[in-house]
Amino acid sequence: DAMPEIKKGLVGVYADVSTISKVMPETNSLTYGGYAVQDLCEECSFEEVAYLLWHGELPNAAELKAFREQEAGQRAISPALHRVIREFPKDAHPMDTIRTAVSFMGLEDPETADVSDAAQRRKAMRLLARIPTAIAAAHRASKGLDPIEPNPSHSFAENFFHLVFGKVPQKEVLKAFDVSLILYAEHTFNASTYTARLVSSTGADIHGAITAAIAALKGPLHGGANEAVMHMLKEIGDPKLAREWLQSRFDHKALVMGFGHRVYKSGDSRVPTMRKYAEKMAEVVGDRTWMEISRILAEEMLEKKNIHPNLDFPAGPAYYLMGFDIPLFTPIFVASRITGWAAHVFEQGADNRLIRPLSWYTGPEQRPVAPLSAR
Ligand code: CMC
Repeated sequence: DAMPEIKKGLVGVYADVSTISKVMPETNSLTYGGYAVQDLCEECSFEEVAYLLWHGELPNAAELKAFREQEAGQRAISPALHRVIREFPKDAHPMDTIRTAVSFMGLEDPETADVSDAAQRRKAMRLLARIPTAIAAAHRASKGLDPIEPNPSHSFAENFFHLVFGKVPQKEVLKAFDVSLILYAEHTFNASTYTARLVSSTGADIHGAITAAIAALKGPLHGGANEAVMHMLKEIGDPKLAREWLQSRFDHKALVMGFGHRVYKSGDSRVPTMRKYAEKMAEVVGDRTWMEISRILAEEMLEKKNIHPNLDFPAGPAYYLMGFDIPLFTPIFVASRITGWAAHVFEQGADNRLIRPLSWYTGPEQRPVAPLSAR
């Protein structure tokens, strides 16, 4: 038989319809529910955007208040999960610890097996509320520090800083962090989101879907790039060395992390907004080194390779300037993307069909099985 056309990496394949977000590579733009993401960043909090992703409309004041109360009221994680987190190996990767913590939340959740839309939404809210608590507890445990209790009077962003550092930073820092959460929240059928939909399509529960999505996000070709970017900037260390360093990458035909994108080929819609806030962070901290190295790398990559930066490129230094340890960068992506993943789980559930593609066999022709003694 003639081999059908294989879309390796599913490049260019439309696997379903969706009303959640739209990427328009021809104009480098991205909308959530019809709203341009850069407008959402200026006008809205992360909580409003989370509501939009889960309901298809921005909340009014009363809806937002109720949403915030539900999230803020369910942030505590169980004593059992705290014990499990304390037992994690100290050098465990934070993406592995949050993946395990979310899986454990599924063991504990009274509604795990109920995949009705209402139950899935209640579980998603608990995940949104508790993921930061688990991320921060595991991070602090890895440094020999006790966990901090979540503060229900804090916004989502304030609470994240409170959980990690025990204090809430100035307004500009909170805003830059909130913007990063909005930009990371959703991005159509990327690898982790599609993983969540695929797991859901079997009728499996949302904790399983999100656990699998976190596993997918960890990879350096996906979410792990924001950490790799900061390691790269630190390795370069000095703007004067940036060109030379990049040339050595080119000579070795190595990937440059934070550049390139499967969908955007002429610029990632989220980069200008994130860069603007990363620059603000550099101003607040009074250190332009990382942004200066970034500027040179971006210029050279464009000139020599015609490849543009992706969101992870400005997000990496922005988080570093906010004071976060590098291994927390991809877990922060999880704390945000749970909103998009869950929205896709709801959408998949509303109109489900098992996801099950085909493979074209290229192995040996059919042959007899020799008995063990004859092999
Ligand atoms: N550094 C150097 N060369 C690159 C890069 C890069 N970062 N990205 C793409 N290229 C080259 C690639 O080698 C290929 O060259 P050639 O045609 O000579 O083989 C050409 O550009 C086209 O790239 P591609 O392989 O068709 O791109 P893809 O759609 O398969 O892969 C990607 C997209 C994001 C996996 C890839 O660009 C990459 O590995 N980037 C680095 C990792 C990264 O920053 N990931 C974050 C992605 S966006 C945020 C997120 O999802 O978390």
